[in-house]
Amino acid sequence: MDKNRIATLTMDDGRSIELPIMSGTLGPDVLDIRNIAKLGMFTYDPAFFATASCTSAITFIDGDAGLLYYRGYPIEQLAEKSDFLEVCYLLLNGELPDAGQKETFTGKVKEHTMVHDQLARFFTGFRRDAHPMAVMVGVVGALSAFYHDSLDINNPEHREISALRLIAKVPTIASMAHKYHTGFPFMYPKNKYSYVENFMYMMFATPAEDYVPNPVLVRALERIFILHADHEQNASTSTVRLAGSSGANPFACISSGIAALWGPAHGGANEAALNMLEEIGDVSRVKEYVQGVKDKKYRLMGFGHRVYKNMDPRAAVMRQTCHEVLKELKLENNKLFELAMELERTALSDPYFIERKLYPNVDFYSGIVLRALGIPTNMFTVIFAVARTIGWISQWNEMIADTDHKIGRPRQLYRGAVKRDYVPVKKR
Ligand code: CMC
Repeated sequence: MDKNRIATLTMDDGRSIELPIMSGTLGPDVLDIRNIAKLGMFTYDPAFFATASCTSAITFIDGDAGLLYYRGYPIEQLAEKSDFLEVCYLLLNGELPDAGQKETFTGKVKEHTMVHDQLARFFTGFRRDAHPMAVMVGVVGALSAFYHDSLDINNPEHREISALRLIAKVPTIASMAHKYHTGFPFMYPKNKYSYVENFMYMMFATPAEDYVPNPVLVRALERIFILHADHEQNASTSTVRLAGSSGANPFACISSGIAALWGPAHGGANEAALNMLEEIGDVSRVKEYVQGVKDKKYRLMGFGHRVYKNMDPRAAVMRQTCHEVLKELKLENNKLFELAMELERTALSDPYFIERKLYPNVDFYSGIVLRALGIPTNMFTVIFAVARTIGWISQWNEMIADTDHKIGRPRQLYRGAVKRDYVPVKKR
């Protein structure tokens, strides 16, 4: 904080208060408004358009410039040159691992890929047609009932083991949710595979057939995981932090993050985007559908972003990956993918979208890639949850490690009834 920089707030009744101006290493300065409580007032900022809820050293976003850095490294470089487990190490520990650290970390994650055998029984309690995100909320939360030996949140070693367990087990649970839904047997993890190969194996292999991972498709999913690994204080991460601020255990906190991610305005957008493409159905209906969006009948899913107002840097990487995958699978002339490209062209050249700075976001392209990989639409948000688990756990860990952290407790502007006396029912 720059101690010499102060903003002064003067009230209409003449009272004034000094508000320190804080500076980060990147990004805009921030007004420390905590002194406002001395005036007996609160600030009002629903949906947090202008509020930094914490300090963090994990992820930096510049929405206007279209920048996304994990621990200072641009997302484009990580997506091109790194792999998902290395990114996990980076987010969790602050630095890229050296070769030895990478090997040890990978080995530790692999140690934890299986789940307690009794956890498998949770699945049979769900209807087969349950949405896999409903299963994820329940089963990931249930991990807190199994791993009692690592639940002391004030012990850094416990926090590390919980982090490793979550990184390792969430893909296993996700693929079990898919297998249960489709009626196929669960596939136990195979540690000879890389993290992403193993996930694809658990998703797509059956005991009856050999499974050979396709490197182009593995790379595409690896990119999806890297691009979705963290995104600073979004709705689900803020949910994890708020739940964690009360001292709740990490498995319960991550489960709350999964619940928040499920909504169509957040992680549900790639599923919603694909459903929208299916609803449009044919290239000939794109213009009519876009007109409906302009008439405010519905929104174009997979377009727009709260923070990125010029370009989503993840979308640029995903767009390229999308073309690579469609080429590899010879799907360039597929009807649905042609429709998606036409929708992209139409929206990008329409003044409604240009004026409002609405561009395709990462989920528009990741939805198309996931569909091409053969992942069912109802698993799209689950894939996002698998990738984002590392972001949630890193942010949670950062918060708990800060000895100054307090329970989160927003206030409100009350606009309900003023005091009134109870009236017995016969007299109402
Ligand atoms: N389609 C059509 N119009 C839109 C859209 C859209 N997708 N998004 C925003 N607008 C319009 C909106 O109607 C408003 O127009 P007007 O000024 O005439 O009233 C204007 O753009 C500003 O909208 P807003 O609701 O104030 O914007 P926001 O920053 O609150 O919303 C958003 C951000 C992501 C919720 C929104 O763009 C949206 O609903 N997009 C579709 C869902 C989606 O793709 N979400 C995934 C986001 S990326 C994944 C993630 O990081 O979680």
